[in-house]
Amino acid sequence: MSENADFVYVHARSNVAVLHTRGNRQLNAKEDAAAAFERLFVLLEQKRRTFDFAATTRIGKCVFVGEGDLSFARALARDTKSCAGNIIATTFEAERSVCPEGRINARSLSDLGAKVLHGVDARNLNDRNLPTMAELIAFQFPNTGTRRSVHGRTDNHVLLRRFLRAAASRLKLSGRIAATLVNSPHHLGAFDPTAAAEWAGCEVVEVLPFYRSAWPGYGHINTNDASESALSKYRSCSTWVFKPVRR
Ligand SMILES: C[S@@+](CC[C@H](N)C(=O)[O-])C[C@H]1O[C@@H](n2cnc3c(N)ncnc32)[C@H](O)[C@@H]1O
Repeated sequence: MSENADFVYVHARSNVAVLHTRGNRQLNAKEDAAAAFERLFVLLEQKRRTFDFAATTRIGKCVFVGEGDLSFARALARDTKSCAGNIIATTFEAERSVCPEGRINARSLSDLGAKVLHGVDARNLNDRNLPTMAELIAFQFPNTGTRRSVHGRTDNHVLLRRFLRAAASRLKLSGRIAATLVNSPHHLGAFDPTAAAEWAGCEVVEVLPFYRSAWPGYGHINTNDASESALSKYRSCSTWVFKPVRR
């Protein structure tokens, strides 16, 4: 794990742990922990740069999984600094299940020269229509839409770690994997990106702020979990950048 990610995440977690050891102040500890996370995220947002998705599309093939209504991929493809021809935007849903907005965005992506694929499972990226060696494989706001835990691990953590492992096998040597997550103790606890990376044989390279407002037309749809519609209330998000640990 790089120093950046170490600073933002490990320290946040240890703050939570310390705060939780204050005996009869356990209730306050929860609030203190939330405040500690909040302060760390303010520091994170003071970083001057975001992950440069557009520049990465100019280097090589960039695969976007779980694109929902495809509005992020479309916004990226329309960016004048992007090479739309290197974008492969995919949805988990079969073509017939893509929402009407998603169909419009799919057409727009094709017109811009990007490729659109449906029915792609981020946990198993062996679709032969995907590039064998990508420069970037990204998942914007992964979410299973379920709230189950198996053996103490949430479905979302399992989705993230299986995505990382699958993506690591289709990456160029210089390639990166990215996942954008909401900055909240709840979301980061559920996804546990550091542990997911370790499980998948990857490491966190950096954690950078992500601003949805920087992407015109990015609608951000939810998975089938109504409570996730609360996502729109979170303004602070981060792109976690990973690479495989090469042995
Ligand atoms: C919160 S939505 C985000 C959608 C889109 N990436 C965005 O930023 O607007 C989560 C997405 O994850 C997708 N998803 C869930 N499980 C998946 C899987 N195993 N493989 C690929 N996508 C998956 C859902 O279909 C849904 O579109």
